[in-house]
Amino acid sequence: MRRLFIKTAVSASLASGLAGLLGLTASAAQAAPEIKIGFVIKQADEAWFQDEWRFAEQAAKEHGFKLVKIAAPDGDRLLAAIDNLAAQRAQGLVVCVPDVKLGPALVARARQAGLKLLTVDDRLVNGAGQVMAQVPYVGVSARAIGEQVGQALLAEIKKRGWALKDVGAIRVTYDQLATSKERTDGATAVLTQAGLPATQIFSAPAPKADVENAFNASAIVLTQKPQFKQWIAFGPNDELVLGAVRAAEGKGLRADKFIGAGIGGSAAAANEFAKAEATGFVATVMLSPRRHGYDTALAMYRWIKDGQAPALLTLTSGEVADRANLKQVRARLGL
Ligand code: GLA
Repeated sequence: MRRLFIKTAVSASLASGLAGLLGLTASAAQAAPEIKIGFVIKQADEAWFQDEWRFAEQAAKEHGFKLVKIAAPDGDRLLAAIDNLAAQRAQGLVVCVPDVKLGPALVARARQAGLKLLTVDDRLVNGAGQVMAQVPYVGVSARAIGEQVGQALLAEIKKRGWALKDVGAIRVTYDQLATSKERTDGATAVLTQAGLPATQIFSAPAPKADVENAFNASAIVLTQKPQFKQWIAFGPNDELVLGAVRAAEGKGLRADKFIGAGIGGSAAAANEFAKAEATGFVATVMLSPRRHGYDTALAMYRWIKDGQAPALLTLTSGEVADRANLKQVRARLGL
């Protein structure tokens, strides 16, 4: 009887000790700071980045963390964004930088601010122009996607029965960014291998990567080469190709004389395809904003929560879409 009493007393105190411990753990968990992640992008007016943000928001909602979205179109605003995130006690930053050469400054500032860093879309370079491979990066398979653009253009040229010897090509470039250059290099390679003379491909460098700058650069090419009556255009993204399409329209080169193929598949392309009358913008390579937005935000969350660091390099693929199917492709992606 006595032994039984002792045993009961011991187990009771063990139980209460355990409960105390559990209580402690539970309150410690409650006190753990909320996970807060910054998602900073370079161009808020570009539809691709809106899609990316939308997916990042979805990850935040589904996994219960807080997302702070900030647009940083230049270096000053990028550094200010980091200070802002540090003040808010954010623990991580997913970023598409306005200028990849900000790499070393960004890494130093993020470290100071105690922010884990994951880059998306554009890959950081150091002072010597080499990629900063130690910083995790999620980008597109730029060369392969450029090659898909080249194939899409060739397919349309064939469909129309154009002869390559008569076709002029506008290559809208933004070569200061490696992922952009690799895309236009990929398209160029496919076109020249198929027989388009390299001398018929004209670069139209856009000082800034937007429709207006691409329009101006393309208009110059079209004015300088009036001998070509059939044109194709390609570039690093949908906006830059749309600039070329608009410039061609301005010179009377409408859909039957012009073939443009972009990259992105966001609202910029979807709106173009939604026009009642088809324009010269015939195709786009649909990228995956889900992988760039949702997956990156989630990877950052896991890194903060579980200490599980993301892969240093992730390259995503694309899928050619056109006027007939982009809407369905976007709907399938939840857009
Ligand atoms: C770069 C381009 C964007 C978009 C992304 C996709 O950042 O500037 O337009 O294509 O790559 O990764």
